[in-house]
Amino acid sequence: MCVHCGRSNRPLDLIDLRELQDYQAMENLPLMFVLTKILLFFCSSAIADDSISQFQSLSKGKTLVSEEGTFELGFFGLGNAGDRYLGIWYKSIPVKTVVWVANRANPVKGNSSLLRINSKGNLELVNHNGVVAWSANSRKKVQNPIAQLLNSGNLVVRDEGDQDPEHYLWQSFDYPSDTLLPGMKLGWDLKTGFERRVSAWKNWDDPSPGDFSWGISLDGFPQVVMWKGSKEFYRGGHWNGLGFSGAPELKANPVFEFKFVSNEDEVYYTYSLRNKSMISRIVINQTISTRQRYIWIGEAQTWRLYASVPRDNCDSYNLCGPNGNCVIGDSPVCQCLRGFKPRSPGNWDMMDWTQGCFLTEEWNCEKWRKHGFVKFSGLKAPDTSHSWFNESMSVNECRDKCLENCSCKAYANSDVRGGGSGCLMWFDDLKDIREFSGGGRDLYVRTTISESDVKEKHRLKVMAIILIVSSALTIILVLYKVGKTVKIFKAFETGKNLMVENNGEDKKEDLDLPLFDLSAIVKATDGFSINNKLGEGGFGAVYMGTLADGQEIAVKRLSQSSGQGFNEFKNEVILIAKLQHRNLVKLLGCCIEGEEKMLVYEYMPNKSLDSFIYGRAKAKVLDWPKRFNIICGIARGLLYLHQDSRLRIVHRDLKASNVLLDLEFKPKISDFGMARTFGGDQNEGNTKRVVGTYGYMAPEYAIYGLFSVKSDVFSFGILMLEIVSGKKNRGFSHSNNSINLIGHAWKFWKESRPLELIDSCMENSSVLSDALRCIHISLLCVQQYPEDRPSMSTVVVMLSSHNPLPQPKEPAFLMEKEFFFAADSTTKNQFSSTNDISVTMIEPR
Ligand SMILES: *[C@@H]1O[C@H](CO)[C@@H](O)[C@H](O)[C@H]1NC(C)=O
Ligand SMILES: *[C@@H]1O[C@H](CO)[C@@H](O)[C@H](O)[C@H]1NC(C)=O
Ligand SMILES: *[C@@H]1O[C@H](CO)[C@@H](O)[C@H](O)[C@H]1NC(C)=O
Repeated sequence: MCVHCGRSNRPLDLIDLRELQDYQAMENLPLMFVLTKILLFFCSSAIADDSISQFQSLSKGKTLVSEEGTFELGFFGLGNAGDRYLGIWYKSIPVKTVVWVANRANPVKGNSSLLRINSKGNLELVNHNGVVAWSANSRKKVQNPIAQLLNSGNLVVRDEGDQDPEHYLWQSFDYPSDTLLPGMKLGWDLKTGFERRVSAWKNWDDPSPGDFSWGISLDGFPQVVMWKGSKEFYRGGHWNGLGFSGAPELKANPVFEFKFVSNEDEVYYTYSLRNKSMISRIVINQTISTRQRYIWIGEAQTWRLYASVPRDNCDSYNLCGPNGNCVIGDSPVCQCLRGFKPRSPGNWDMMDWTQGCFLTEEWNCEKWRKHGFVKFSGLKAPDTSHSWFNESMSVNECRDKCLENCSCKAYANSDVRGGGSGCLMWFDDLKDIREFSGGGRDLYVRTTISESDVKEKHRLKVMAIILIVSSALTIILVLYKVGKTVKIFKAFETGKNLMVENNGEDKKEDLDLPLFDLSAIVKATDGFSINNKLGEGGFGAVYMGTLADGQEIAVKRLSQSSGQGFNEFKNEVILIAKLQHRNLVKLLGCCIEGEEKMLVYEYMPNKSLDSFIYGRAKAKVLDWPKRFNIICGIARGLLYLHQDSRLRIVHRDLKASNVLLDLEFKPKISDFGMARTFGGDQNEGNTKRVVGTYGYMAPEYAIYGLFSVKSDVFSFGILMLEIVSGKKNRGFSHSNNSINLIGHAWKFWKESRPLELIDSCMENSSVLSDALRCIHISLLCVQQYPEDRPSMSTVVVMLSSHNPLPQPKEPAFLMEKEFFFAADSTTKNQFSSTNDISVTMIEPR
């Protein structure tokens, strides 16, 4: 009957009070007639199911649902005592997540409590005994007050005909519980002195306000703070124009936008989602003393942690005491700022840093007044609660003003944008400082050592070093000359030619690389038994073996088409054996006999990366921290090949199966230098023979045979995407025309939902902000034009810092087919392999 109503989820729980009276009066009428009347009323009702008006109420088991079905308001129970609360939760997700509670501290009992709106427009939650357990007072009286649940999760009271947010009579967004939703303001209305602060539930089953809260402190220069009771617990710091000084993890990202507003009327922080169909919230939790941002992942039907603070020990408020500096990774973590010393050395050594540090020489304003400042970089700015600020002063004016005032302890720019502006001065001990590896800003601290002192000392140091080095060089030169003279004398004596002796020395070096006997290798691998075969690479099969002395080895038996002579090959291998880096597989030796050419490597017990990331079963072994370490290790290994090694090697076949893992899952790149030894007819930057693997090859390489370090960067980008997503670029989707992993990543990126790319196996271990950064860097690496891609050294820096990243341009090869097309169009070739085997394509001449 109601099929035509249009609103499918209209709650039949909304009972119109007038209607109910009618119903009771008409008790003796045939039931059918009454029912029809009631149903007809629902059909024609103008009041939506997301609101109640003065003549309606909401009781147990009944709910309001926001227009687009995102949020739901109703009663829910907690604990064992039958306590019931009125709250708001997500309607659209299956995991019940309460984001707001009305009667946090006053639960109602039983089934007969209800929510209504009285004639004054006040919301009232009436307990079973008729007592009002909670109420919300409207700012003024209006004609037709209604309470409406909006799609943002905001419960508002307004006049029925007036939708203007400025005219809301009351809204739940002004009274946050433990959750900050998109669009909520955290902070102050300065005109009325009204504060919006988020406070944690006491416990998972007790929503009453705990003593853990998050808000904005207006003492001194405004800053975001988390408190435990009345004590600071974690300080996000002041807004520096780009973000908060103590929260480098909050930076421009594809998921949400954030802003801080500070003017005469208001001071607040707020955020909004770039894609409105995403679901995200920030919640503070007293049990674990953290503030966390979660994002709902539809595919996995779960909340994922995006970021969490405090992150580490150094985030504990003022851990190192006044004028102390917390450096995570140092042991102990606390140090005095340069120019300061521990106030209580005994306690300091016992790791009780609360008393902090003081100036190494007693402060004498007259004496030190004009002394100046020491500049510190990369710090979290000190607590600004005893600071003075002026947003229109320049940094030089700031410095002069600080110099003039004997109690000024430090100064900095209040806004770091565009080279810096504004003035922030501290008049108290400098509290709650830490060091950041990436991000962090400059701070000028007044000490008894002055800039000129420091410069002078630095100059002296440099001079001393130059002096020492030059004298050492002189000595070496003299010794060398003496040695040579002696040699020449000796040469004369023995009648030998010096050159011969030098060649002899080179020979000795050659022998650094062991040459294995073929017979030893055959024995170790059980005659290249199929049982010992580890895999098949682009240049041949790999076998596991055990030498007579028990050492485990991996033997790469090169296929016989290289055409390289014995000496050429050996020299090449010797060069490559000299490449030593902890992220490269170690070459132990080689074996050359007849047509057989073999390379002997250290054996990696955890085999190659591909066996972990693609298979569901083993993927769980690699949690996010391990994966991130693997990514960083591969990046460092590749950087070494590109830049730091003497040979400047382009790998040309970087892929998951060429990354081996040791016992501790440290990555080691294998097959480096193979293209060099085995590629044959290549010249610098252009090759007739394309060696690589579909799905990893950069467009300019696959199509034109042009290779460079940037084509390796492309492969690295793909590999990183695969590690984060747990999916293969090639064969990503099954239907023929559809997009591959890059295409998928790019689509998600453009739609501001890149998080859906992250491997669901890492659910509990990934902090999404880091994984997101990796996706961002990947997209920079797979850009179409080599000149747009970052170098590996830039990639390494990007991975370890928190600085903003450029926006990626559209990548190459979005479609699965393009790879084949690209390969096909230039090579009438012999590629037949469709799996991950490296291919060699020889262009017809
Ligand atoms: C706080 O976190 C703990 C551990 O993750 C969780 O069990 C608990 O439910 C959370 N508390 C609230 C109020 O959500
Ligand atoms: C130094 O600055 C403080 C804080 O602004 C102020 O109270 C004090 O009067 C100043 N002293 C001098 C000598 O200007
Ligand atoms: C937002 O995400 C949805 C899928 O969750 C997608 O269909 C939509 O296109 C995205 N919107 C924008 C503006 O990118």
